[in-house]
Amino acid sequence: MQEFVERIRRVVAQHSGLAPAEIKIESPRESTHGDLAFPCFQLAKTQRQPPPAAAVKLAQAIAGELAGIAVVAAGPYVNFRIDRTALAQSVLGSISRRGARYGGSEEGAGQTIVLDYSSPNIGKPMHVGHIRSTIIGAALHRIFGFLGYRAVGINHLGDFGSQFGGLIVARELRRDVDLERDPVHGLLTLYQWSKEQIATDQEFAKNAAISNAVVSGVLLPAAAPLARRHDLETQAWIRTVSLDGFMRTYRRLGIEHDLIRGESYYEPFLKGTIERIEAAGVTEVSDGALVVQLGSLDKGLEKTPCLLRQSNGMTLYATRDLAALFHRWEEFHFARCLYVVGSEQKLHFRQLKAVLRRMGCDWEPKVEHVDFGLLLGPGRVKLASRKGEVLVLDDLLDEVVAEARTIIEEKNPALANKERIAEQVGIGALVFNDLKRERIKDVVFDKAEILAFEGETGPYVQYTHARLASILRKADEAGGEGAAPDWARLEDAAPILLALGRFPGVVASAAANSEPSELAQYLLALCRTLSTWLVEHRVLAEEPELRAARLLLVRGAEAVLANGLTLLGVAAPAEM
Ligand code: ARG
Repeated sequence: MQEFVERIRRVVAQHSGLAPAEIKIESPRESTHGDLAFPCFQLAKTQRQPPPAAAVKLAQAIAGELAGIAVVAAGPYVNFRIDRTALAQSVLGSISRRGARYGGSEEGAGQTIVLDYSSPNIGKPMHVGHIRSTIIGAALHRIFGFLGYRAVGINHLGDFGSQFGGLIVARELRRDVDLERDPVHGLLTLYQWSKEQIATDQEFAKNAAISNAVVSGVLLPAAAPLARRHDLETQAWIRTVSLDGFMRTYRRLGIEHDLIRGESYYEPFLKGTIERIEAAGVTEVSDGALVVQLGSLDKGLEKTPCLLRQSNGMTLYATRDLAALFHRWEEFHFARCLYVVGSEQKLHFRQLKAVLRRMGCDWEPKVEHVDFGLLLGPGRVKLASRKGEVLVLDDLLDEVVAEARTIIEEKNPALANKERIAEQVGIGALVFNDLKRERIKDVVFDKAEILAFEGETGPYVQYTHARLASILRKADEAGGEGAAPDWARLEDAAPILLALGRFPGVVASAAANSEPSELAQYLLALCRTLSTWLVEHRVLAEEPELRAARLLLVRGAEAVLANGLTLLGVAAPAEM
């Protein structure tokens, strides 16, 4: 498809005097308006004539120069219709050449994108905000990688908080809690118990406070009462156990990070970071605390300066994020640094960016908060476990997989590998549901709805893919294409060919806008087009040349669905 767009651009440039980069070629919504269109508004302005007149003149000038493309002026547009044989050969040819790489490119060669996603807090279960961050961030990580960028996924673990003191003391008193076998639930039990104890037991609260002082470096271990000197070791052990639990979940979801750098990783850089901000002359001392006032830059931040150090010497979440940001800039000189974090942290990222601006860091616009809405239960209530407690991500995964198992048992009891496919379908449903709408919108998690095999769901896309895979399996058992394709007979499949040709552009746009939903919506629309076509056409039981052409179309569509699903983090099983 890109090949046709480029040719049109070149010819339009020659005849209009516009630079090729200025020439925007669109895909019309109405198929009767052709396959591609060039709006003549800007051209008309430079030529000082009405757009329809400019369109007619341009169409006449270029008609003879675009072999295989019909050119027609329609109102203010010049419309282009690509010859069906040329279209089929070009689109299906490049899919078969590039295979699993079709849709990718080298646009990002030499550029680094840093992505901060998932970033749960050690010692606590991932909350629903982390779930969305994990899914959206990992999808963007794959998409940027596919486009040739060096994508660096960082897990900015919350391993520095005040949650440790209580956990460390609780760990000693509650040896009955098994942390090895089930770290996530074990730590949750300890965490909840420690919160109760801190509120009700003074001795416990005092010990927790000392432990906290030790692990956050305020109190040297040697200065702590004898009984508390092992806290650093216990903290490290809790970190390992907790991270282990997160890793199990990541494996199930197919999530990877390139670097795990918790907040504590940046501790050695905190002092230098504060000095650097002071040296820029933008800090003030207010009530003993060190702050950066931001009101002069951003009226909305007048009452919320960025706090770098409290009067007791403690640094803050923002201090550690600034240290991380400088560190990342120096290490990667990123083209973009994306923070995939929920909208409730809007203020925090606005502050970080404002501090950079006050310091005169010209790379500040490269830092972006990729925010997103909430994940809610049916009826738009907060998602909670059955007992109304904190929801553990693994339990949610177990729940959808169990439901997928029931559905598969009903629809396809003879399926081989049922267990594996239930996992792929259940998790695919959850992931797709999270990605299918603009990320800023809230997501409603309704088990029955997201698992439906029809509608706007992951299983619908997976199922369409499996139908195509089944046609290909049968064809390959019978020896493959077996004849030369008659491309001209794909006329009625033009909407599919055009959609397949648009795929690379959709991937690029999803990256540019940090919006995986563009890809998800594209896949849904492609599946609808395919489903309609499949109702009206046979593939295998046709005469050889037509069969071969349709088989190649099915191959192309299967590859695009598989590539698209893989980028989103949804498996594409061949049977389900
Ligand atoms: N741990 C944080 C939380 O749970 C999220 C961290 C996001 N990343 C960052 N660099 N601030 O809210």
